[in-house]
Amino acid sequence: MNQLDLNGRVAIVTGGAQGIGLAIAERILASGGKVSLWDRDAPLLAKTIADLAAGDAVDGAEVDIADLASVEAATKATLDCFGRIDILINNAATVGPNAPTWEYPADAFADVVRIGLNGTFHCCRAVVPHMVDQNYGRIVNVSSVAGKEGNPNAVAYSSMKAGVIALTKSLGKELASHDISVNCVTPAVAKTAMGMSQKPEHIAYILSKVPRGRMLELDEAAAMVCWLASEENSFTTAAVFDLSGGRATY
Ligand SMILES: NC(=O)c1ccc[n+]([C@@H]2O[C@H](COP(=O)([O-])OP(=O)(O)OC[C@H]3O[C@@H](n4cnc5c(N)ncnc54)[C@H](O)[C@@H]3O)[C@@H](O)[C@H]2O)c1
Repeated sequence: MNQLDLNGRVAIVTGGAQGIGLAIAERILASGGKVSLWDRDAPLLAKTIADLAAGDAVDGAEVDIADLASVEAATKATLDCFGRIDILINNAATVGPNAPTWEYPADAFADVVRIGLNGTFHCCRAVVPHMVDQNYGRIVNVSSVAGKEGNPNAVAYSSMKAGVIALTKSLGKELASHDISVNCVTPAVAKTAMGMSQKPEHIAYILSKVPRGRMLELDEAAAMVCWLASEENSFTTAAVFDLSGGRATY
C-alpha cells in the first residue's frame, strides 16, 4: 500500500458504516486523517465506530442525506467535533429494484434519486461554504459505471449516477478558482450489501461487462478515492475517474 499524507485533514464519509465508504474511511485513518462517518443506520454505525477502535480520530453522525436539515445538523456536529472539514466523500446511495423502465415503481425511482442525487447535493450545499472560507477542500463523489453506460433494468440508479457525474462537473467549475477540487469515480460492481442486493441475473450481466472478469475490490476503490482527496491532487477537478476494470474506456 502506498503511503498517502492526510495528516491533520478532517473528512466526512457518507454511508461510511459499511462497504466502499468504510474502506475509504479506513484508508483515510491509515493516512493520518480524521473521519466523521455519516450514515442513516445508527446501530451499524455505532458498531463500525467501535470496531475501528480509532479513538478521537473517528466520530459519527446519524444522518439521512436526503434530508437537508439532517445534513446541516451533521455538518455543525462535525465542525464542533473536529473544528474543520477538508474532505467530503459523497458515497451514500441506494440502488433500488431491478425492472424495465415501463414497469419500474415510480416511488422507488423517486427514492433512489432523492437519496443518491439530492443527498449528494445537500452534502455539498452544507459543506462547501466552510471549504471556501478556508480556501481548501477535496470532494469526491462516488458515482458508478452505470451512470456512464446506462444499465438495463436499473433506470433509477443509472439516471441518478449520471446526475452525480454532472453535479461533479458543475460544482468543480464553480470552485475551480479556489484550492478545492471536485471529482467523481465510477466503480463497477463490488461485493457489498448494496452490490449483492441486486437480482442474480443483473449481477451476472454487470459482471459480464467487466473485461478484467472480476469484481472491484473495496481497497482498490479506496486507493483512488483517497488520492483524489489528498493535497497532492491540486490541479485536477470536475473530472470523472474510472474504476470499471476496463468496461468504460472514456
Ligand atoms: N457495490 C457496488 O457494486 C457499487 C458499484 C458502483 C458504485 N457503487 C457506489 O458506491 C457507493 C457505496 O456503495 P456500497 O456498495 O458500499 O453500499 P453499502 O450498501 O455497502 O453501503 C451504503 C451505506 O449508505 C448508507 N445510506 C443509505 N442511504 C443513506 C441515507 N439516505 N443517508 C445516509 N446514509 C445512507 C447505508 O446505511 C449504508 O451503510 C454508493 O454510492 C454506490 O452506488 C457501488
